[in-house]
Amino acid sequence: MGHFLSDLSLSSAKSIFNRVYSHENLQKALFLTGLAYASWNILSVSSKVLSYAFTTETNLISRYGVDSWALVTGASDGIGKEFALQLARRGFNIVLVARNEEKLSAVRTEITTLYPNIRVRIVIADFSNCAEEGFFERIERETNDLDISILLNNVGDACIEEYHLVPYEKIRNVVLLNCLSQALMTRVFLPRLIARTTNRIRSAILDVSSMASEQPRPYLQLYAATKTFSLFLSEGLAHEHPNLDIISLKPGFIATKMIGNKKLDMKVCTSEQFVASSLRYLGKTRATNGHWKHQYLSTFLGALPESMLIKRLKTNLYITLQEVRAGQAAAANAAAAKSTN
Ligand SMILES: NC(=O)c1ccc[n+]([C@@H]2O[C@H](COP(=O)([O-])OP(=O)(O)OC[C@H]3O[C@@H](n4cnc5c(N)ncnc54)[C@H](OP(=O)(O)O)[C@@H]3O)[C@@H](O)[C@H]2O)c1
Repeated sequence: MGHFLSDLSLSSAKSIFNRVYSHENLQKALFLTGLAYASWNILSVSSKVLSYAFTTETNLISRYGVDSWALVTGASDGIGKEFALQLARRGFNIVLVARNEEKLSAVRTEITTLYPNIRVRIVIADFSNCAEEGFFERIERETNDLDISILLNNVGDACIEEYHLVPYEKIRNVVLLNCLSQALMTRVFLPRLIARTTNRIRSAILDVSSMASEQPRPYLQLYAATKTFSLFLSEGLAHEHPNLDIISLKPGFIATKMIGNKKLDMKVCTSEQFVASSLRYLGKTRATNGHWKHQYLSTFLGALPESMLIKRLKTNLYITLQEVRAGQAAAANAAAAKSTN
């Protein structure tokens, strides 16, 4: 009996649907709704990507103060080094913070050769030790005679692996470099940045998060989570301090040693392109992907239904994981062969 009733209700539902759907006006309405939805998506992607062409850079040195300093963490290589170079070109004196003195000295020489009027100070700090008491206070003390107008929280570490295989030490390092460094650098320098802000002169904080902050990422789960921490801390502070220019940068792939200097393509840009493009957004927005290639990808991924998005990310990241493992195995074999010779 129950069977008969459910068959009956199913067939009547089908016939009602067929009758309603065959109605010409309904078909038209559905078509127009679909068309409007697709056009809206195309428009929103195009307007975001096009905004990259029309956004111009503010005169940063007059906005933040002539003769002021930008402090950059993770400044010996990659994106941090490029920010140091490009900010020096715009007239900022630079504090370079990282762990390798030799590499930092080379960056200082590069900057002062290109821009002889720019002063550079080096602060050696290994952020793997940043949970130690007094770590951040020492950086503050070593720079407390300088008018720091820009803090750039860039230092970071990446990790791609199945989570149950990640060594404890790696987890500790990623959390220290990606979360604690930003949280405490900001806390330590914020009072100085606030104190120097006037009606005419502003201060800024740039936080290098990642596009990985925008969705959960299988195999890149820890990194994505730390970058979401970075994004939320940055955006929360930006709302709390409207008189400061606080911006979270969410790049996709940038060809640096962190990602094995990937080859350039439609998804990958150089540090130079990313930094030049990001600086145009300083003082104009609280968060950006920085470069149009990454904005395009972010908008495309954001428009996918969640199940499709996660499936796509999982497949792509699994392939990347296999490539990384193959690279690590090759490096270990080469090192072993070298030590036996
Ligand atoms: N590259 C990308 O595709 C990409 C995408 C999205 C977000 N990001 C983010 O961008 C930031 C910079 O990445 P990157 O690609 O420029 O990386 P990178 O080329 O590996 O450079 C990292 C910088 O951080 C320094 N550093 C590493 N560990 C340190 C430690 N324990 N103490 C002090 N300094 C340390 C490095 O110094 P050494 O020279 O001594 O190693 C180097 O100066 C990171 O926060 C990263 O998550 C990168």
